[in-house]
Amino acid sequence: MGRSNCSCHHHLLLALVIVLLDTIWISSRYASAADEHVKDFYIIYLGDRPDDRDEAIKTHINLLSSLDISQEEAKERMVYSYTKAFNAFAAKLSLHESKKMMEMEEVLGVFRNQYRQLHTTKSWDFVGLPLTAKRHLKTERDVIIGVLDTGITPDSESFQDHGLGPPPAKWKGSCGPYKNFTGCNNKIIGAKYFKHDGNIPTGETRSPLDIDGHGTHTSSTAAGVLVSNASLFGIANGIARGAVPSARLAMYKVCWSRGGCADMDILAGFEAAIHDGVDIISISIGGPIVSYSSDSISVGSFHAMRKGILTVASAGNDGPSSSSVTNHEPWILTVAASGIDRTFKSQIDLGNGKSFSGMGISMFKPNAKSYPLVTGVDAAKTSDDKYLARYCFTDSLDRKKVKGRVVVCRAGGGAESTVKRYGGAGAILVSDQYLDNAQIFMAPATAVNSSIGDAIYRYINSTRSPSAVIQKSRQVTVSAPFVASFSSRGPNPASIRLLKPDIAAPGIDILAAFTLKRSLTGLDGDTQFSKFTILSGTSMACPHAAGVAAYVKSFHPDWSPAAIKSAIITSAKPISKRVNKDAEFAYGGGQINPRRAASPGLVYDMDDMSYVQFLCGEGYNSTTLAPLVGSKSVSCSSIVPGIGHDSLNYPTIQLTLKTAKSSTLAVFRRRVTNVGPPSSVYNAIVTAPKGVEITVEPKTLSFTKASQTRSFKVVVKAQQMTPEKIVSGLLVWKSPRHSVRSPIVIYSPSSD
Ligand SMILES: *[C@@H]1O[C@H](CO)[C@@H](O)[C@H](O)[C@H]1NC(C)=O
Ligand SMILES: *[C@@H]1O[C@H](CO)[C@@H](O)[C@H](O)[C@H]1NC(C)=O
Ligand SMILES: *[C@@H]1O[C@H](CO)[C@@H](O)[C@H](O)[C@H]1NC(C)=O
Ligand SMILES: *[C@@H]1O[C@H](CO)[C@@H](O)[C@H](O)[C@H]1NC(C)=O
Ligand SMILES: *[C@@H]1O[C@H](CO)[C@@H](O)[C@H](O)[C@H]1NC(C)=O
Repeated sequence: MGRSNCSCHHHLLLALVIVLLDTIWISSRYASAADEHVKDFYIIYLGDRPDDRDEAIKTHINLLSSLDISQEEAKERMVYSYTKAFNAFAAKLSLHESKKMMEMEEVLGVFRNQYRQLHTTKSWDFVGLPLTAKRHLKTERDVIIGVLDTGITPDSESFQDHGLGPPPAKWKGSCGPYKNFTGCNNKIIGAKYFKHDGNIPTGETRSPLDIDGHGTHTSSTAAGVLVSNASLFGIANGIARGAVPSARLAMYKVCWSRGGCADMDILAGFEAAIHDGVDIISISIGGPIVSYSSDSISVGSFHAMRKGILTVASAGNDGPSSSSVTNHEPWILTVAASGIDRTFKSQIDLGNGKSFSGMGISMFKPNAKSYPLVTGVDAAKTSDDKYLARYCFTDSLDRKKVKGRVVVCRAGGGAESTVKRYGGAGAILVSDQYLDNAQIFMAPATAVNSSIGDAIYRYINSTRSPSAVIQKSRQVTVSAPFVASFSSRGPNPASIRLLKPDIAAPGIDILAAFTLKRSLTGLDGDTQFSKFTILSGTSMACPHAAGVAAYVKSFHPDWSPAAIKSAIITSAKPISKRVNKDAEFAYGGGQINPRRAASPGLVYDMDDMSYVQFLCGEGYNSTTLAPLVGSKSVSCSSIVPGIGHDSLNYPTIQLTLKTAKSSTLAVFRRRVTNVGPPSSVYNAIVTAPKGVEITVEPKTLSFTKASQTRSFKVVVKAQQMTPEKIVSGLLVWKSPRHSVRSPIVIYSPSSD
């Protein structure tokens, strides 16, 4: 809301982001290490999982001590020894020491720790996974989803374990005991916390307990059991449930109310999840990626992939700006947020008999028919306060002028909190952004766009005693799916040959379990608490896709991460380009389609080597590959180069023109594996946009048995195009029973 209106005021922007998306952590950014005596946390990467863990830990201390520090101090400075899934450690170093570390023979990479941001009743029916959907219950019970997040609420009804037997035999995880944490059961089979400095923020406890609500919400979306009559004070009432109610959950708490989510803790979370034996990792956390080899989520998820674990991650909440997508590694399933056909609105009745509709969830029923209506500027304390009073900042308003009145403000100043504190009758927030999701208010309030805002301002000017009332919110039906305005968009900022995000999943106004330890808005003075709440964010979309990945896994326990990803992407339901102008850069393959994902017909499979070949094509070398592959000896010149334009067997295709002016030709090589009926024939159906020629060779693929593979090539020739424009083509492999869809995106870079 109103982001562009107040981008000049950083504090406004922060307030806005916290209030609106509710899923973002504003973390203390790491300090600059210009002063070489300043000690920062660094992650020092040494290679793959060591055979001898005790030996590895000794090596870690010895390496540290070789910086002329005593063994004692080395032990003190050591934060983590990672030995279970890879060989690395985290320690406090000066900039100078970190450079010396980098020069050591055994060291493959040194990265400064950074802090990341955290980025359902109806949604499962909406995407076509009804309660009655076919399930493989026996195998579903063996699927374990690891969630890296803010912790979990073990007492929540969503995590009861009725009817579930003990964890599958492969499980190696554990769960406390912790104080303040009632413990695990056969639903939450593991829970751990990671806090590099042991410094537990006030209000939190030394346990995986969720006092934020984010981790409880994401976990219950992925695998919560059925809870009937779940609602937010009667709103969005229905049966709450996850995608795979019989699957197991393991929580790795890596985010804290102070300090956000540290790379060191994220890496420790990945390590534990890999070692414990999870099947799918869901991570609704992100930040900008500088390089795949120095990013905790990249490195962690690469190691997970090599162990057969798919990582599903949120695309970010920085939309609708172009190139804002994060977690865009080719081995991750990157999830955008879409809307379902339901939202929440409040009616505003003006004294002149006119009514408008505003967005948001306001649970307050007005006591009077109408209240005096003022603008924030009219309610300013002094004339000097008028500028900030437009946003209704508490300190800029005069309590007496707010009490008993409805105030109109520009969004971003926390007007609801001011209204509540000063005894106002409501707030009308004027904004032009992010009006597609319903924010929860702590006082009577609603959000309107500036054309409605102007109409209200005009009404105020037109009469001596303007008045208005904000009605309690109701559920309304909207047309869907559409991609959320906040959902981060492509093109991929790092790899111009790789389409991201991969998929869209519901991430607007999602009802799921919450914590009673935090008020609904988390704002000062909010007295609303609920076991279920409605949140929006790609954070909410991610566990939907992770849940679908677990659903697919329950049908195909032996599928690779790439095969599961391919099944989800190629079975997606198309989203209309007309209402989503960023097209595939907003939604990738389209909206998740769980039941079809379990039976995709063909999959585009890949192993670790394909990703290495891809990275070589991206300019990585033996040094920058080392943290991923675990050795400096993998050089791009010594491996067979990848074939085709992108060296990947990816289920989508992206061609970025060299310049907007020239025409470009590229050949993509692909290989599909038959996972449908043994004997089947698929025909290529190609749709090419204007100015683009797409040919597929061969045009028919015949299979005679299961798991058989067939190769083909796609030649894309594109004429010059308008800069910064995306045009979309499509390849569908069609058999009588399956349609395997691959979007083909052609993008022309900006002209300079
Ligand atoms: C943890 O337990 C203690 C003692 O029972 C209690 O005082 C405290 O409020 C609890 N903290 C949280 C966050 O639940
Ligand atoms: C359902 O939930 C609502 C709101 O929490 C409550 O008022 C109502 O009594 C519940 N109904 C049933 C049948 O439990
Ligand atoms: C403002 O909202 C109203 C009602 O939702 C809608 O009809 C109108 O088109 C919107 N105006 C703009 C400029 O978005
Ligand atoms: C209402 O009046 C104020 C001052 O009298 C003026 O600044 C503002 O532009 C007017 N608003 C509209 C929408 O006419
Ligand atoms: C590898 O790539 C990095 C970053 O592009 C570069 O700084 C380094 O010199 C390269 N190393 C080798 C051995 O080519």
